[in-house]
Amino acid sequence: MTVDQYKEKIECALDSCFRLSEDFPQAGLAQSMRYSLLAGGKRIRPMLVLEFCRISGGDVEKAMPVACAIEMLHTYSLIHDDLPCMDNDGLRRGRPTNHVIYGECTAVLAGDTLQAEAFGTILRSGLPAERRARCAEILAGAAGIDGMCGGQYLDMSWEGRSLTEEELTDINARKTGALLVAACQMGVAAAGGTEKMIEAAGSFGAALGMAFQIRDDMLDVLSTDEELGKPVGSDARDSKNTYMVLMGKEGCEKTIDRLTAAAKDVLKEAFEDTAFLCSLADSLASRNK
Ligand code: IPE
Ligand code: IPE
Ligand code: MG
Ligand code: MG
Ligand code: MG
Repeated sequence: MTVDQYKEKIECALDSCFRLSEDFPQAGLAQSMRYSLLAGGKRIRPMLVLEFCRISGGDVEKAMPVACAIEMLHTYSLIHDDLPCMDNDGLRRGRPTNHVIYGECTAVLAGDTLQAEAFGTILRSGLPAERRARCAEILAGAAGIDGMCGGQYLDMSWEGRSLTEEELTDINARKTGALLVAACQMGVAAAGGTEKMIEAAGSFGAALGMAFQIRDDMLDVLSTDEELGKPVGSDARDSKNTYMVLMGKEGCEKTIDRLTAAAKDVLKEAFEDTAFLCSLADSLASRNK
């Protein structure tokens, strides 16, 4: 499948979620969840789920709920990341942020609900029980104290303090890397792959995730609001620790190239049919949004 074919399938599956009729008293909450979920992100994480499932010998259709789940969890992280108490940003995926449209209270709840529904979506899927459990376990670890939430906490509490490369790498491995690792691993788990395959998928995701956040930090300095669909300059305004601060544009570019090459190497050692993922890694290394 091509990137566009994957995206089309993912959009279609996501669009079938949370279609609450207006008669429900909580319909407004569903509306705010759908506002952010269907705002057209790149859908990298669900794509990784589906492609890792495919190269692990699984049924891509059956992994679709797992793919939707990681996008729900990711969207929750974005809604909360943009809140006034966090990065305080007004633009996301080319639209006003969730709290700007629906207010902070509903935005917080939209994030909370997307997180809960992510796990529900995995656990209600048609996959064998063991695979459902393994996927939910992977996602819980990636979202929790050692993963995305832990990283977001460090990102916020270390704002304005100068960090070592090790500290910055630790933040980014958690706040961004963890969900990308989980996406790759859940794809393997959905296919019933071995723990060894799950581990290799995780190594690919970790290198890809680090390169992904470095590129994100670069774009915050070098892109425009229009192209990026989110506000540039937000990191400098908040005195964030970023790779641009730590190593500058050239240092970032070199590190991204090194990480992308490492990601592709580890992938080729463990899997066959890696062309799609290698080309995805290359395109993310030079992405402009
Ligand atoms: C943005 O993620 C937040 C980070 C982890 C850097 P994406 O760049 O994947 O955002 P969308 O999903 O395409 O909007
Ligand atoms: C946040 O990183 C990663 C998340 C867990 C959402 P950023 O704060 O750099 O993400 P953007 O740039 O707002 O998308
Ligand atoms: Mg942030
Ligand atoms: Mg942010
Ligand atoms: Mg950023």
